[in-house]
Amino acid sequence: MSDVVVKLRDHGPILISGEFVIEDGQGQPIDLAGKTNIALCRCSASKNSPFCDGSHKECGFVAENRAK
Ligand code: FES
Repeated sequence: MSDVVVKLRDHGPILISGEFVIEDGQGQPIDLAGKTNIALCRCSASKNSPFCDGSHKECGFVAENRAK
C-alpha cells in the first residue's frame, strides 16, 4: 500500500490522503495547515482554488474515471 492515495471522484474533485506536498505553478509549497486529506478542484469553479469548495455540484461538472 502506498503512503499517498489519490482518488478521482466521479463528477467531483481529486482526493489526496497521506503525507505529501502541493506546489503552485512557481514551485512554491501551498500551506496545507497540516492537513493530510485534501480535495483538489478539477472543475475550475471553486472559489478556493486549488481546493474543492463543492461548487462542482452547482456547475454541473461531468467527469468519470475508470481503470481499464
Ligand atoms: S471539483 Fe469541487 S469545486 Fe471543483
